[in-house]
Amino acid sequence: MSRALTFLSLSILASTVFAQDETKKGEPKAAPLAIATKGTPKVDGKIDDAWKAATAVEVKKAVADLQVIEETKMATGKVKLMWDASHIYALWEVADKNLSADASDAWEQDSVELFLDENNKKSPYYQSDDAQYRCNFKGELTGQGEGFKQESLKAAARKTKTGYVVEMAIKLNNPEVLKADALLGMELQINDDPGTGARGAVAKWNHTGDESWEDTTNFGTLKLK
Ligand code: BGC
Repeated sequence: MSRALTFLSLSILASTVFAQDETKKGEPKAAPLAIATKGTPKVDGKIDDAWKAATAVEVKKAVADLQVIEETKMATGKVKLMWDASHIYALWEVADKNLSADASDAWEQDSVELFLDENNKKSPYYQSDDAQYRCNFKGELTGQGEGFKQESLKAAARKTKTGYVVEMAIKLNNPEVLKADALLGMELQINDDPGTGARGAVAKWNHTGDESWEDTTNFGTLKLK
């Protein structure tokens, strides 16, 4: 190889390596994946056999900015997901010994929240397919966001020895996205009132900022199996 050619190939190699390093640095962390299995559970707060095939993800990352109580005392949980032609279903098992719905703001009460980005655009603001769905430990339903419709959320809650169970059914705005191998954007959150009448901790599945209710950028990904 002539000197000029060697120099050329070396500089091409160097610039490729440099370019790769640069993109690696700038890239956000890959979104974690949760898997929803196909099926239609009965939404009654009882854990029926349909859930057996589903694998759980954990909601246990603290949101530092909202942490008032010790992290070891924060409510955490496990969530399983299912899907059918019109709905996404979520089964929440929350460990929380001290249950309260005294706070006037629903997100300050002991409650669970599922954030859904149906078209997985991961946009920095809510679009018409994006919504936040909430159910407290008593089964009271709230939510918001461009895509939120009260009638699209059904749920049942039940107290257990160690906390509470919530079973949610969310009717999609765009049911045509519900196909095997489809990817949806999703975040999961547990709000914990330690008995003070105000939120003392928040646990999440993926992103530990408190902007999931208005920004879908950092949602994880839900894959339909
Ligand atoms: C957030 C709150 C926010 C609320 C709006 C919750 O997920 O943690 O800070 O005010 O959503 O619905």
